[in-house]
Parts: sequence; C-alpha cells; structure tokens
Amino acid sequence: MMRAFVRSPLRHLHVDWCRSHLPLRYLHSKEVLRCSFQGKSWNQASVSKRSPFFTTPIFYVNATPHIGHLYSACLADAAHRWQRILGASDTIFATGTDEHGLKVQKAAKVAGKEPLAFCDEVSHEFRRLFQMCSISYTDFIRTTEERHHNAVHQFWTSLTEKGYIYKGEYEGWYSVTDESFLTSNQIHEIDRGDGTTIKVSLESGNVVEWTSETNYMFRLSAFRDKLLRWLDQNPTAVQPAKFHAIVRHWLEEGLQDLSVSRQRDRLGWGVPVPDDPSQTIYVWLDALVNYLTVSGYPQRTHLWPPTHIVGKDILKFHAIYWPAFLMAADIPLPAGIICHSHWTRDSFKMSKSKGNVINPFDRAAHFTADGLRYFLLREGVLHSDGDYSDMKVSALLNAELADTYGNLLSRVAAPTLNPQQVFPVLDSNLFPSMSAQSSTSRTTDEDYLLVESVKRLPDIVAGHYDQFLFYRGLKEIMTCLRMANAFVQRHEPWNLTKNPIDRPWLDSIIHVTMETLRVCGILTQPIVPDLTDRLLTKMGVGTKERSWDHLKCFEALEGDSREGYGGRRLSSNSSVLFTRLKTVSRR
Ligand code: ME8
Ligand code: MG
Repeated sequence: MMRAFVRSPLRHLHVDWCRSHLPLRYLHSKEVLRCSFQGKSWNQASVSKRSPFFTTPIFYVNATPHIGHLYSACLADAAHRWQRILGASDTIFATGTDEHGLKVQKAAKVAGKEPLAFCDEVSHEFRRLFQMCSISYTDFIRTTEERHHNAVHQFWTSLTEKGYIYKGEYEGWYSVTDESFLTSNQIHEIDRGDGTTIKVSLESGNVVEWTSETNYMFRLSAFRDKLLRWLDQNPTAVQPAKFHAIVRHWLEEGLQDLSVSRQRDRLGWGVPVPDDPSQTIYVWLDALVNYLTVSGYPQRTHLWPPTHIVGKDILKFHAIYWPAFLMAADIPLPAGIICHSHWTRDSFKMSKSKGNVINPFDRAAHFTADGLRYFLLREGVLHSDGDYSDMKVSALLNAELADTYGNLLSRVAAPTLNPQQVFPVLDSNLFPSMSAQSSTSRTTDEDYLLVESVKRLPDIVAGHYDQFLFYRGLKEIMTCLRMANAFVQRHEPWNLTKNPIDRPWLDSIIHVTMETLRVCGILTQPIVPDLTDRLLTKMGVGTKERSWDHLKCFEALEGDSREGYGGRRLSSNSSVLFTRLKTVSRR
C-alpha cells in the first residue's frame, strides 16, 4: 500500500490563497475557509489551492485556428490535467467559439454563407484541432447555443433590474477587428503611404470607424474605485504581476460608461436585447457570459469562480469589464486572470487579420501533437512575446524529448542491459540510503544528488505549475533527466553485462534510472499526455498509479521492500518515445 504523501511545504498556502483570490465580502464569511473540495476544506486538503474550473477565451470564428489559440488551450489544458493529477475529480475546463458580432457577420458575408452555417464550419475546426492535440475540455461552448442565449438574457435582465443599464446617445470610435469601443485618446492617425490617412487603435493597430447611435449603456464608471480596491486587495488576481500593474494603470486613467448594444439594423447577428428587439447585445457582454453559461447559470453556478486564461490582447475585457459586470450582477469575481503574451512571426503578432499565422494542424502533424504542445509550454513564457520558428521547435524537441527523455528510456529498456525486460529490484546493500552507506556501497556523492533532486522535484514542480509557469517546471524536470543520463554514463552499465556477479548492481542502476523516469513521467503528464502514457505504460506503471499520491519515490532505497515498482514486467510496446526530427531550414 502506498503511504499518503502530503505536500507539506505548500499546505499552509491554501488559506492564503482563499484570502487573496476571493472578493472581499466573501472573506468575512466563515464559508470561505471551508470552501469545499471533495468534502475536505481547503486548509485540510493536501491538493492544490485552485478551484478546478479553468477557461480559455472563446475564439472568434472569422477564421480557422492558429497556434496562438492552441497555446491558450494548452495552458488551460495543462492546468486542468494538473488538478486531475492532484486528485480533483469534479472539474470544469471550458473552451469554445464566439460566434456573434460584426466581425463574424462580415466574415460570413465575404464567404457568401449564412452566418450559422459559416459558424458551424469554423467552430468545427477548433474542435477538430483540440481533439487532435488532446485538449481535455469538459465543455465546448458555442455562443449560438440556446443555453447561452438564456444565460445572456438572464444576465442582462439582472443588470437592468439592479439599475446598471440605461439608454443613451453613444458617439465614439469602434474597431470591428477588436470589437472594441475607443476614446479619441486611444486612437491615432497613420499615413497609408498614398497620401491618404486612416485612424487606428493605438493598442492593436487595427482600423477604427466612427459610430453614432442610440443604444444601451452600462454604468462602468461607477466601478472604478471598487475595481481598484479589488486589485489592491488581491495582488494575484491578475497574473503575472506585470499585467496586474497594467490593469491598475488603465483604471487610474479613468473609466467611461460602456455602450453595450448596437442597433439591430447594423448588427443583426447577435442576441437581441430582452424586450427591445431593435437592439442587439454587444458581442463582448454576450461572449463573457459564456463563463457563467458553462457553470450552469442561471440555474446554478457550479464550481464558481473560475480561473480565466487569456491573451494580453483581451486583458481589458477580462480584468475590467468582466469584473465590473459581475460586481453589478452580485456574482463572485474570477479566482484569477492568467494573462499570457503573444506568439509572433518576425516580431509581428501572429493574427488572422495580418495573415502571418502558423497552421497548427500541419505543425502538429509534422512535430506530433505532443511535440507541438511541448514546444509551446516549454518555450512560451507568460510575461513576454515569443517568436515562432520551425527551427527552434526541432532543436528543442531533439535536445529534450529525443536526446534526454527518449535516450534515457531506450538505454534502460534495451534488451542488452535489461534482458529480462523488467523494472528491476534495487539492492540496498549496493545502493543504500545516504546515511546507511557502508563498505559494500558502490555509490558516489553525485548519485545521492540525483536521488535527492528527484525526491524534491514534485514540490518544486507543483509550485511552478500552480502559477502556470509550466516552462519552469519543465526546466526542473529536464535537469533531473540530464542528471540521470549522466548517472548512467558515470556507471557504464554496458560494462556490467558480462559477469553475473555485477547483475545486482546493474539492476540497481536501472532501478534508480526508472524511478527517475517514473517521477518525471507523472509530472510531465499535463504537458505531453500521449508521450508520458507510452513511457509509464512501457515501465508497467498502471493508469491508476499516475497521480500525486504516487510521487513518493526511492522507497526501496530506504530498505522498504514492500514499496516501489521493482520486479514489474516492462510492456512489449516500443521504447522509442520521440523520433528525432531532421533539422529543417527556417520557416
Ligand atoms: O478575442 N499569441 O477571440 P480571438 C498567443 N472572441 N495567443 C493568441 C495569439 C497570439 N499571436 N492570437 C490569438 C477573441 N491568441 C474573443 C474572446 S472571450 C470571452 C472572447 C489567443 O479569436 C489569445 O488567447 O481574437 C487571445 O486572447 C485569443 O486567442 C483571442 O482570440
Ligand atoms: Mg483577436
């Protein structure tokens, strides 16, 4: 029986997390400190501090997906898989497509299709990509669904009843590409090069047009101080800290009321305002409500509040408009807004409208889905943009998945070293614990450094994964795998195959290496689920032995013969984890 394994160094953080992530008014309630997680209270749970509800943005269907969209989905997927590994069974991981608005209406017209038929086609492409790349969503929402229409109506009605919506004359700049209203301070004029000028958004560079009409307004200005207070009292509400500071700065600049509807004769493709069919609800209000729809609103708000993963292009909508809407409707604010930077091509943001996108279908076919996932999560950092190139992907995957991970498994599973094809038993006389070393030990100081690093690895990786810093977790895992490759190299097991007297020592070397691979494999599951499934299956680690509770390691080394995986048969599957890629020319 595996002993319960408790992440002691992180346990005290659970209550702190509740304090920093929940809106102030909830902190006064005893309920907070008892917010239930599988029947345990947060401060008792040995699992992570996050509510297991994650969302990606819902993507516009004006064009097919690119690797930027896949990146957001991979971040959310890794977080969701991690919560599962930590033991959460009731989880929500929602993604989907944003199908209303002028931008989609125009794209359907250009394609010569009825809007819904057009949305069906493109939405299907997102679903196909996410299936191809093992995105483990529990819900894929489309804003054209009836359940969402009902949620939007209910939400609008609630804002109206609480007095936050009024009818007014709106005049201002609008960017269709961003589906965003802008003030004259947020735009500038640029020369088109032919003597004419156009006005564009300062932030996105997208063209704006003048709009002037009667529509419904939301009292956004009433929320400035409350939003500032929320940010100040919740330093991790928006992460990384850089983006928290940006949102704060926007708020300090002031907030104007927001137009939240368009005349239906201009925008017919959207949810009509309840009791006023001459107006269509603004696409961002409609879209943001998707997060409530997937939790079962208005009937219930299961697992609320969620953690939103978003790109920096839509930070304002998630960190200002959305919390303000929620405050107005008296619904708890998001547990966190995790903001990531952009993938660029030659330093330009990859975007559908610029046409400089990388096709994720053919890249996943070329590099494998796991290969592409690994690259995005290992190379992508939240706080700054990353430039994509195939050359970088090949170099990284060859160095880490093929030469480090793959090499280690093929060494210890090779029939020459491991003729019985087992996860061999460790001989604790030859490889005792550090404190029990004796004249029979054949170990070196570096061997214990490896063992100690692997033992410490789960807590270190958990600390990074909890903050969505997957690249840092992977860096630590790679360090251990490199140390294990050096360990094999140091003891030259290929020289130990001739004389049967060396067998117990050879088996001990393989055991330690496989134990390292097992721990690293469990911890890498959120990033490369297929590769790690093959790795763990190969070593005879069952599907129910791959969670946090199974990260206790090197028990045989402590002389505990009941524990450990020694003696299991390896499966007959291939031991090739990742086939080396031919280096490619730049693209
Ligand atoms: O904004 N690098 O949808 P959208 C990284 N429908 N991520 C990128 C990226 C890039 N170059 N380009 C796009 C919308 N993304 C709205 C959202 S949510 C209620 C409504 C990712 O199709 C990133 O997550 O324009 C970005 O925020 C999102 O796609 C924008 O997708
Ligand atoms: Mg966009």
